[in-house]
Amino acid sequence: MEPGGFPEGNDGLPCPEVRRWAETKYRLIGLYDKLFATGMKKKWDQRVYIDLYSGAGYSRIAGTNTFLKGSPLIALTVEDPFDKYIFCEEDPELLQALRTRVKRIAPMANVVYIQGDCDAEIDKICAEIPKASANNKVLSLCMVDPFDFGIKFETIRRLSKYFMDFLVLLAVGMDAGRNYDHYVDGNSTKIDEALGNTAWRDRWRAIGTRKGEFRQFLATEFSSSMESLQYLKSPLDRMKQVRSDEKNLHLYYLALFSRHVRAYEFWDDVLKYSTDQTGFNW
Ligand SMILES: C[S@@+](CC[C@H](N)C(=O)[O-])C[C@H]1O[C@@H](n2cnc3c(N)ncnc32)[C@H](O)[C@@H]1O
Repeated sequence: MEPGGFPEGNDGLPCPEVRRWAETKYRLIGLYDKLFATGMKKKWDQRVYIDLYSGAGYSRIAGTNTFLKGSPLIALTVEDPFDKYIFCEEDPELLQALRTRVKRIAPMANVVYIQGDCDAEIDKICAEIPKASANNKVLSLCMVDPFDFGIKFETIRRLSKYFMDFLVLLAVGMDAGRNYDHYVDGNSTKIDEALGNTAWRDRWRAIGTRKGEFRQFLATEFSSSMESLQYLKSPLDRMKQVRSDEKNLHLYYLALFSRHVRAYEFWDDVLKYSTDQTGFNW
């Protein structure tokens, strides 16, 4: 990441505000994208990047004039760009801003845009993944970066039918603290949908239900759900825990899920080089 961010993001187009700690997220995503895109270039005929929650392309750190590249632009500007990009975003204005920025920044890239809810539009997203064959090996990296723990595991399950790695932001912090009683005792199905099962409630009760550990529990449960799709185990110490700089409040885990050991070697490098210092320059 460039010190001071990316001033070219100040282009008058919609630019959602983020907190300073988002820089850590982008730093990790940037390094992983780079290792993946370059490392897999010769091994696969096509590398596809899918962003389920794309955003506008740039965001601005609240209260500053520092603009950050969002996950789609980070993926578009790696040294060895992906062969195809699929960007889904619910908000039409943000998607239009992304479209305009992509045209300016990576005019030659092969990009499709899908406006709508990524869960509702999963058929359209899947239809855009190039058909694989013996002569056309296709590997995809799917970025899952929602605001909260609102992932639908069914969407992940659908995408897992392809050769697909996932970089997932498990935003368990905000939700798990604020809505704990609602999720555990209430009739909410949000966690059921995110984990793809209802048996988590029994497991949570069985281990003694210490509210303070609910976030770790959810992240571990998500990893178990991924294991049920033959993804390798991703224990908590292999997830990057990102805390806000304001009150050191735990906010989320960034986790990699792959069926291949090689991807975890890349991820281990990301974890090794990652630092919570802002402005770190790759
Ligand atoms: C945390 S932001 C992600 C930003 C983006 N990854 C980036 O790096 O700038 C989440 C984005 O997902 C969009 N969104 C929320 N729910 C969605 C859904 N169900 N399907 C698609 N997009 C959604 C929001 O409008 C928002 O732009």
